Amino acid sequence: MDFKKSIAVCITGALQEAFGQAPLTAEEIQQVLEIPPDPSLGDYAFPCFRLAKGLRKAPAVIADGLREAINAPFLARVDSVKGYLNFYINRVLYAREVVEKALREGANYGAGDEGAGKTVCIDYSSINIAKRFHIGHLSTTMIGHALNKMYRFRGYDVVSINHLGDWGTQFGKMVCAYKKWGDKAAVERGGVDEMVRLYVQFEKASQDDPALADEGRAWFKRIEEGDPEALEIFEWFKSVTLRDAERVYDILGVKFDSYAGESFYNDKMQPVIDELQAKGLLSESDGAHVVDLEAHGMPPCLILKKDGATLYATRDLAAAFYRKRVYDFTKCLYVVAYQQNLHFRQWFKVIELMGYDWHAQLEHVAFGMVSYEGETLSTRKGHVVYLEDLLNQSIAKARAIIDEKSPALENKDEVARQVGVGAVIFFDLYNNRIKDIDFWWDRALNFDGETAPYVQYTHARCCSVLRKAREPDCAPDYAALADPESQDVVRLIEQFPDLVTTALERSEPSMITRFIVDLAQAYNKFYYERRILDEDLPTRKARLGLTRATATLIKSALGLIGIQAPEQM
Ligand code: ARG
Repeated sequence: MDFKKSIAVCITGALQEAFGQAPLTAEEIQQVLEIPPDPSLGDYAFPCFRLAKGLRKAPAVIADGLREAINAPFLARVDSVKGYLNFYINRVLYAREVVEKALREGANYGAGDEGAGKTVCIDYSSINIAKRFHIGHLSTTMIGHALNKMYRFRGYDVVSINHLGDWGTQFGKMVCAYKKWGDKAAVERGGVDEMVRLYVQFEKASQDDPALADEGRAWFKRIEEGDPEALEIFEWFKSVTLRDAERVYDILGVKFDSYAGESFYNDKMQPVIDELQAKGLLSESDGAHVVDLEAHGMPPCLILKKDGATLYATRDLAAAFYRKRVYDFTKCLYVVAYQQNLHFRQWFKVIELMGYDWHAQLEHVAFGMVSYEGETLSTRKGHVVYLEDLLNQSIAKARAIIDEKSPALENKDEVARQVGVGAVIFFDLYNNRIKDIDFWWDRALNFDGETAPYVQYTHARCCSVLRKAREPDCAPDYAALADPESQDVVRLIEQFPDLVTTALERSEPSMITRFIVDLAQAYNKFYYERRILDEDLPTRKARLGLTRATATLIKSALGLIGIQAPEQM
């Protein structure tokens, strides 16, 4: 039974009966139905002012009239309050419908197929070659990964793209430095750190010897033109960088379908530039070619530099056309820090000015900055926290806590990994993505806070109850779930499918994270207030059912944000 839908149908029926007409269809009414912030105001509420115009009556009059006319056995009560109709569903029926649906659908509860046949491209992580993976990359990686899972949960095909930062003059300098002073074994061993060392050495040396800069530029040109020697070194730098990054991706459980980065578009920009030219969108400014965006309140979008070199935006334009053509996306998301807001607004506008209505399918999913225990990350000041170190530390700390709290636990290493990694991801995905994040160990790993360990522990608690209880072989008595604590859990479970929809509309995985905390808190209250292993077997059966539904949902919701749920902790 779909309560929202049933209520909407009731309202249309009552409209006919009380007023002889229904200005809104049942579907429209369903859209308008609200979930009151305070459950004492009902499970659902309908704001009658939406009918005021159509019926030419005051909302309060409409609400009173409808209340008289509504009569459905699944509703325990309907109140008319200040122009709102508040609906209270029969508690026993509500519990039965929700719990049985959740149990029936299991890990698929809340999934959907509205995305069938549609493709979403998600550009995330998008790391830069020869740079270490630091905690600033955590958000793009995990928000993108969560959106990936959420879209798949709704039946979409997802193409995950790591748009590598693998183009720029610095790579010429790096190759040049390697040719002069580099050592193959050192790069293999040191990875990105060694490449950075070479680059720093190059920058220092070129202060004394300006000719060096020219040499560096020449090497960059060779890379761009596909000179075999230059390319071989550069491709090797790339694979060494990716090898280091892959270790982090493995820990996080993240995978990509494509690593086509900026350099992939070297030969795909000319047609875009030609088209911009043909459409009269290019203008010259100080010898550079730009798309003027003054009419749209933005600085010009740079397409070609004075020397003919292309830019970051030129590559993003070419990439968007490529993705549209190859993947035929219905949406293309860019999970990139808000510092790049203007960049995305600019080139999205360029696509629009070119006359492509799919500009509206492009979305910049912006997020805030990450600092570490009160310190912003700055390479210059040396406050760099590498993601791999952070994750490994977190696993070690989780391990220490487990050793202390549950010395007898089997597979402690595996659980420590799930908890430690989960804690970092959870912390990252807990707040609205646009907010800046300050990472603190005591907050991320607190077993009593709004953290991964807390919800994972709740899940393990449910599993333990289910393991210990022999499930009675009788029909559940859902009257046992009519009390407020059980109802709070039931209500949250019921709201989950709609919540996933909204989280996707807003590209906001944090809604899932917060939901999991709410569910865990509600379940724990239920756990302390109600005796699950009641002597009355139908009662016990109902409470175990609620426990199982909660465990399954915590696990699958955690899965959506990329976190695992151990059965024992
Ligand atoms: N590599 C860029 C950076 O680290 C992010 C790239 C984002 N994706 C894109 N298509 N522009 O800032």
